[in-house]
Amino acid sequence: MEDIAKFIREVPKTELHLHIEGTLEPELMFDLAKRNNIKIPYSNVNEVKSAYNFSNLETFLNIYYEGSKVLINEQDFFDLTWSYAVKCREDNIVHTEIFFDPQAHLSRGIKFETIINGINKALLKANKEFGLTYKIIMCFLRHLDEKSAFEVLDQAIEHKDKIIAVGLDSSEKGNPPSKFKNVFKKAIKEGFLTVAHAGEEGPPEYIWEAINLLEVKRIDHGVQCLKDKKLTKELRNKQIPLTVCPLSNVKLCVFKNLKEHNLKNMLNEGLMVMVNSDDPAYFGGYVNDNLVESQAALNLSKNELKTLIINSFKSSFLSEEKKMKWIEKI
Ligand code: ADE
Ligand code: ZN
Repeated sequence: MEDIAKFIREVPKTELHLHIEGTLEPELMFDLAKRNNIKIPYSNVNEVKSAYNFSNLETFLNIYYEGSKVLINEQDFFDLTWSYAVKCREDNIVHTEIFFDPQAHLSRGIKFETIINGINKALLKANKEFGLTYKIIMCFLRHLDEKSAFEVLDQAIEHKDKIIAVGLDSSEKGNPPSKFKNVFKKAIKEGFLTVAHAGEEGPPEYIWEAINLLEVKRIDHGVQCLKDKKLTKELRNKQIPLTVCPLSNVKLCVFKNLKEHNLKNMLNEGLMVMVNSDDPAYFGGYVNDNLVESQAALNLSKNELKTLIINSFKSSFLSEEKKMKWIEKI
C-alpha cells in the first residue's frame, strides 16, 4: 500500500483537467481579499472549508464564481498560478494543461490581457525555473449565450500565441454543446484545438454532440458515457480521451462515494481515461490525492495506475516526441 502511494507521488505525471480559478486555496483567497479590499462572506479559513459542501455542480459553481471575485490585478492571477505551479513541482506534475474562465472576470471589468498575462507569466517562470511544461485552454461559460462566447473568442484570437485550445464549462444541464457549435467552428478555423465538458451531470447525448458538432480532441469528465453502449464503443474505437476527476465527482454528488465511481469500469472497457483534479482547492485534493484515494477505493493495480498515467501523457497536447520521452520513464 505504502509502496503504491510512494510510486504515485514520485512518478512523473501530467494534468489535463484543471481550472486555475479552482486552485484558489482559502489562505490565498483571504490574502487577495485583503489586498484588493474585497468583502468575502467568510471570517476565517475554517468557515470557508465548511462552506464547501455541495449537492451538485450548480451549488459548487455559485461558490466558485464568488471566490473568483478576489482576482483583480495581473499580480493576483500570477500569484494564483504560481502557487499551483509550485504544487506541481512538489507533486511531480511535469506537464499541465490548464483552463481559465475569462468571462467570469470580464463581467467584473477585468481586462483579458490582465488575466492571460498573469497566468502566462507565472507558467513561463515555472518553465524557466523548474522545467514545468504547459498549455493554456480558454473555456466558454455555457450558461451564457453564444454571442458572449464569440466576443471572448475575438479577444483570445489576439493571444493565440498563448492559448492552444478552447473548451466549454460551467452549468451543463440545459446548456448542450449544440448551443456553441458556431463559435467552436470559428475557433477551429482560427487554429484552436477544442475540448468540452460533457457527461459530467449531463446525458450521453451531450458527449455525442461534443464529438460531432464541436470536434473535440478530448471530453472533460465524460463519466455518463457508460449509459450508452454505442457511445462507449465509439469512444473505445476512436480512443477519445476522457479527463476523469474522481474527487470532484464525489464532492458534486455524481457518485455517492469513490468505491462507486466508474473509473475502473471505464478502464476495463478499454477507454482512454486518466485522473485529474478539476478544482483541487474546492474538492479536497490535487492529482496525487485523486490517484491515491482512487487506488485505495477501487483497488487499482500498479499496472492500472501506470495505464492511467501513460494515458494522460498520450492524451496531452505535447509533441509525440515529448510524450514518448515521458512515457519511457514510467
Ligand atoms: N468550472 C469549474 N469546475 C467545473 C466543473 N467541474 N464542471 C463544469 N464547470 C466547471
Ligand atoms: Zn472541470
